[in-house]
Amino acid sequence: MAHVGVFLLSSLFAASRVRARVWNNTGVGAIAFEEAWSVPELIHQADFTVPPVNQTLAELEANLLDVHDQRLAHMDATGIDFMVLSCASPCVQGITDPTNASTTAISLNDELARQISNNTQRFGAFAALAMHDPAVAAAELRRTVTQLGFLGALINDYQQAGDASNETFIFYDQPEFDVFWETVVDLDVPVYLHPRVNPPPVSTLLFDHAKFLIGPAQEFASTLSTHILGLCTNGVFDRFPNLTIISGHLGERIPSDLVRIDDQLARQVVAGMPMQKNVTFYFQNNILETTSGNFATDLVKFHASQIGLARILYSVDYPYVTMEEGAAWLDDEVPTFLDNEQALALKRGRAIEVLKLNK
Ligand SMILES: *[C@@H]1O[C@H](CO)[C@@H](O)[C@H](O)[C@H]1NC(C)=O
Ligand SMILES: *[C@@H]1O[C@H](CO)[C@@H](O)[C@H](O)[C@H]1NC(C)=O
Ligand SMILES: *[C@@H]1O[C@H](CO)[C@@H](O)[C@H](O)[C@H]1NC(C)=O
Ligand SMILES: *[C@@H]1O[C@H](CO)[C@@H](O)[C@H](O)[C@H]1NC(C)=O
Ligand SMILES: *[C@@H]1O[C@H](CO)[C@@H](O)[C@H](O)[C@H]1NC(C)=O
Ligand SMILES: *[C@@H]1O[C@H](CO)[C@@H](O)[C@H](O)[C@H]1NC(C)=O
Ligand SMILES: *[C@@H]1O[C@H](CO)[C@@H](O)[C@H](O)[C@H]1NC(C)=O
Repeated sequence: MAHVGVFLLSSLFAASRVRARVWNNTGVGAIAFEEAWSVPELIHQADFTVPPVNQTLAELEANLLDVHDQRLAHMDATGIDFMVLSCASPCVQGITDPTNASTTAISLNDELARQISNNTQRFGAFAALAMHDPAVAAAELRRTVTQLGFLGALINDYQQAGDASNETFIFYDQPEFDVFWETVVDLDVPVYLHPRVNPPPVSTLLFDHAKFLIGPAQEFASTLSTHILGLCTNGVFDRFPNLTIISGHLGERIPSDLVRIDDQLARQVVAGMPMQKNVTFYFQNNILETTSGNFATDLVKFHASQIGLARILYSVDYPYVTMEEGAAWLDDEVPTFLDNEQALALKRGRAIEVLKLNK
């Protein structure tokens, strides 16, 4: 009997998911989806963060905690139709204890669903996931997508694990994680891989000599690009050819360096590297990049030549980056190299497809 009840309940959720989402589709507004949100219990994680010029850390933290006030006002002022929120880095990936991490992920997802519930026309969500156990992560992803209407997950690089010595980092590029990727593909949702700060002693070993490089200037891309290239070289996209990963900040620099990466990795085939194709192929088929915090016109043009314009999607990285900065780039720079149809695809059309907003 219990089986029947569970079955009926899950078909009900499946049915409610196929109902089209109602969102504020103006036909021209932008869609942004690397946009951070936090809760008071985790706001201390922002202590590592350097706020934008002319902003205090207190203002940045207030922006992270807000949904309906200044965030929505900036969206209206800068023409953002729809924003997908996710928990500010490192979020659950910074919680070493697996039980704490998985209960925190569930309560964060419930809280985010609650906070956006009265304005799902403007706000959607990516799940926070505890990644200690791939089966636990898969179950929470399934719950948030089928029951809360979430659009995928955002994971802040590797999962901190083990004891307080911080010597255990879990990466998702090993075969043990196939059960997670299988669920991602089954649910047909994207997973956004976002950077995180390294805890000591890794951060001290790497950056004590040059502390200003901690965070977005250098540490983020160098750490996360290694993880993304780990997914490639360990064959994750060969085992899951329909998997979609999103990388921010114009692909964490990888598409700027594909010639050398592919050339050097071709030499590793004889050493037993499981990767079947090359990194260019995965960026053309599996990995998308967004413009979050990196409105670099010449780089966007170059990346379009390497991976195709259809692989590049708009996002802001609010509140670390202002929506006004993104809007100025869309208004002043984008029309100098994209026609209207291409610009619409970049700022909204591709996101509508990838996030399945009209399905
Ligand atoms: C910061 O504030 C100063 C003084 O108001 C102003 O001149 C400057 O343009 C501002 N910088 C940015 C990046 O907004
Ligand atoms: C829809 O989004 C635009 C920004 O693109 C905003 O100006 C407008 O007020 C929004 N409408 C509703 C009903 O939220
Ligand atoms: C869980 O982790 C959070 C974030 O590190 C911490 O604030 C909280 O005290 C932990 N809770 C428990 C029960 O250990
Ligand atoms: C949603 O609820 C928040 C918090 O109560 C409120 O500030 C906001 O105005 C509400 N939005 C809508 C569209 O009702
Ligand atoms: C482990 O990382 C935490 C921050 O996440 C830090 O407070 C602690 O000192 C680190 N432990 C060691 C042994 O460096
Ligand atoms: C990938 O998706 C396509 C189109 O939905 C489907 O036909 C194909 O069977 C999928 N491939 C795998 C390996 O699941
Ligand atoms: C990458 O692989 C594709 C086919 O999958 C091939 O056409 C292309 O030449 C390769 N690029 C490099 C640099 O090896």
